[in-house]
Amino acid sequence: MSQLKQISHNDNSAPSTPGKFKMEKSPYFNRTRWHYSLAKLTLWSFAFLVVILIFFLRSPTSSVPIDPSRRSLRTYNWGGSAWEKRVRSSARVRSRNGMTVLVTGAAGFVGTHVSSALKRRGDGVLGVDNFNDYYEISLKRARQALLERTGVYIVEGDINDEALLRKLFEVVPFTHVMHLAAQAGVRYAMQNPGSYVHSNIAGFVNLLEVCKSVNPQPAIVWASSSSVYGLNTKVPFSERDRTDQPASLYAATKKAGEEIAHTYNHIYGLSLTGLRFFTVYGPWGRPDMAYFFFTKDILKGKPIPVFEAANHGTVARDFTYIDDIVRGCLGALDTAEKSTGSGGKKKGPAQLRVFNLGNTSPVPVTELVSILERLLKVKAKRNIMKLPRNGDVQFTHANISYAKRELGYKPTTDLQTGLKKFVRWYLNYYSGGKKAVE
Ligand SMILES: NC(=O)c1ccc[n+]([C@@H]2O[C@H](COP(=O)([O-])OP(=O)(O)OC[C@H]3O[C@@H](n4cnc5c(N)ncnc54)[C@H](O)[C@@H]3O)[C@@H](O)[C@H]2O)c1
Ligand SMILES: *[C@@H]1O[C@H](CO)[C@@H](O)[C@H](O)[C@H]1NC(C)=O
Repeated sequence: MSQLKQISHNDNSAPSTPGKFKMEKSPYFNRTRWHYSLAKLTLWSFAFLVVILIFFLRSPTSSVPIDPSRRSLRTYNWGGSAWEKRVRSSARVRSRNGMTVLVTGAAGFVGTHVSSALKRRGDGVLGVDNFNDYYEISLKRARQALLERTGVYIVEGDINDEALLRKLFEVVPFTHVMHLAAQAGVRYAMQNPGSYVHSNIAGFVNLLEVCKSVNPQPAIVWASSSSVYGLNTKVPFSERDRTDQPASLYAATKKAGEEIAHTYNHIYGLSLTGLRFFTVYGPWGRPDMAYFFFTKDILKGKPIPVFEAANHGTVARDFTYIDDIVRGCLGALDTAEKSTGSGGKKKGPAQLRVFNLGNTSPVPVTELVSILERLLKVKAKRNIMKLPRNGDVQFTHANISYAKRELGYKPTTDLQTGLKKFVRWYLNYYSGGKKAVE
């Protein structure tokens, strides 16, 4: 703008040039004026274009796609004494020998359940979540409201924000980190590969960098995934089986996470436990997962894609109910040993673990659909399709004997029972609370 003013000022001042030079100089002045007008026109057109562009980028109904990696450039409000007070109060321990846990991805499906379970038993809990729009933000907000009622505050921010994480550790000396923030989903990786690198790799490294440098270092439990088994065909999947054939970028970033965890444990003495979750489902679940959108589409009378493998082979999943997963997470936190480093340096060997958390009873996807039909009392329109080769594997089945031995992990909910609870929640949630819970 100041440039614009300057030019118009120069332009106005041109005719006031002393008259005696006018004859000789006039062609020069005309050219200058022409030049100035052109510059003015160009600038105004440019300003106009900028305004149009800003309008389109900000408009919610915009058809101009916003680069999702730009999400990281969003600025969040944090800091100040009222904010610090809120953070401290959320993280206050209320039971004897309770821990202070920073839960990343707290507005997510698993994060919400783990946070509320920790809070209920008297641990101090603080959440962090960037509330990204990978799936309906309103569901994340509803989970946040649920946690707020139990006294858990979720700080809105990105795990890539080093200053924010440092500040949080400055305000609260967390004893544990439950790291669940991630870009989940297998197929979305073809659409937005950058978001997987941003959250699952860069974000994880940033978190570990902060954890290794604070004093005392926290112990870290984090979510890996059963997808690391990839093209492995030996069942059940045991922790020692090969995991070097990922079938999706999502799986590859989780596998990378396991290797990164090894590095930070080795160099800095961070206590690290990775949990390979097997298809977690339940109330407050993720809308991008099959059991969730099958429910939605069956109710709408919309056909659902039911995958089968080559030669009409069965596609099956080791579905694991959320409460069982939560018990596994708490078991991992409770058995996590202290990190050994200080001042950013390793002082001795630290704990490094990886566990399967599954249900150890795979169910064919066709059976999942049948259970949903019975619960919803609606017949599904099944669209039988061949399993595409874009990330999903044919079969998952967890060997959970290691988690059983070390964490006392023992899943107790079968798919029928768990889906009944999911469907009850779903109907209640999407009727806007109008429909009473049976
Ligand atoms: N649900 C499953 O079946 C399953 C299976 C295997 C592994 N996992 C893993 O478990 C964890 C939790 O999964 P979920 O099902 O609750 O997923 P979710 O998407 O519901 O939760 C993840 C949360 O993390 C947040 N998040 C993402 N990137 C972030 C960032 N850069 N900074 C801050 N917050 C960020 C999201 O907003 C979201 O609320 C993830 O690590 C996921 O990969 C889940
Ligand atoms: C399950 O894993 C344990 C190691 O934790 C192993 O000893 C056992 O042989 C595995 N079982 C099967 C059936 O693969």
